[in-house]
Amino acid sequence: MKNNLTFGLIICCCFIFIKCKTTTEKQTDNSSFKSGKKWLDTNSEHINAHGGGIMFHEGVYYWFGEHKTEGRGGNTTLFGVRCYSSTDLYHWKNEGIALQVVENLDSEITKGAVIERPKVVFNKKTGKYVMWFHLELKGQGYNAARTGVAISDSPTGPFKYIKSFRPNAGTWPMNFKEAWKIEPDNSPLKWWTPEWYTYIKEGGFVRRDFESGQMSRDMTVFVDDDEKAYHIHSSEDNLTLHISELTDDYLDFTDKWITLAPAGHNEAPAIFKDEDTYYMITSGCTGWDPNEARSFKAKSIWGPWESLGNPSIGKDAELTFNSQSTYILPVEGKEHAFIFMADRWTPTNPIDGTYVWLPIEINQGKPVIKWYEKWDLNFFNK
Ligand code: DGJ
Repeated sequence: MKNNLTFGLIICCCFIFIKCKTTTEKQTDNSSFKSGKKWLDTNSEHINAHGGGIMFHEGVYYWFGEHKTEGRGGNTTLFGVRCYSSTDLYHWKNEGIALQVVENLDSEITKGAVIERPKVVFNKKTGKYVMWFHLELKGQGYNAARTGVAISDSPTGPFKYIKSFRPNAGTWPMNFKEAWKIEPDNSPLKWWTPEWYTYIKEGGFVRRDFESGQMSRDMTVFVDDDEKAYHIHSSEDNLTLHISELTDDYLDFTDKWITLAPAGHNEAPAIFKDEDTYYMITSGCTGWDPNEARSFKAKSIWGPWESLGNPSIGKDAELTFNSQSTYILPVEGKEHAFIFMADRWTPTNPIDGTYVWLPIEINQGKPVIKWYEKWDLNFFNK
């Protein structure tokens, strides 16, 4: 009897030891970036922060993203925007839901609405954390095309929802010609014809949405060196990108905005600034399926933006390594160090989506992204 007990105890201890060891191994294994693989948080759960963005504040990186759920409908928002924190970019602690959807059908962020691509920025003037996100109203598919804003006193939330809207109602872009403000007599009716493309490039949809506000779907927010912030979004039925200045408190739009790459069909905008040049990386529009990324650069946020083509090179470059851009992260304390963050979507079970993180190199004035099976921040010490 005594022998049996001792034997049982030994087996039990071995089991606990092996379990602890594998858990630690999973964690210590997080000392490099392995794109497309499950990425475990400090609780050993796959990180659930899709379409995300990162804010660095007082020594900590905060990763905000869409909390996806299981099954085909897992893209509708049943919980909200999740936040993780990290000091080294490899190990992420789950900080919970930063912006929660509500059980109230009268609310724009009711459970079952769609909240995508949340981006959080800190406003030095007000001391508040501001979250912008793409919002689709419950039961309306992707027709609402609104941008939403929420605010918090703490980086991890809770964020308080303020409002959503279609931006820039009643204002023309700064790069819009006078002649384009008037609808031509011969507006082409048939989509995708050469005449129709010219019509879009000459502001057909900007005029269409002038009164009601411009559509706003895939988006990001960028804070410049002078603390001015910009909201960049796919508009005009995803045909044209819009760049808009935010007010000093980051809670609204000023009247300053431009169009970028009219009729170019860009989604998933991600932006960074290296020295005095702004670079943008976007995707094409193929729903959840990956496509070839595009890149642009400009000396001023207001353009002119020069198109630089596909930044990816090597195998699977034409599919952005099976991913779609979401954010470009400047690595703190390192010069010219930027991480391309992208999503490898799994629409049949959105919670399984993985993350593609790759270093960006600037080569002959162009951003270049190459595939690395495994890499770490020493890459930037070269
Ligand atoms: C592509 C976008 O980039 C995603 O954020 C999401 O809106 C899907 N389309 C929906 O099909």
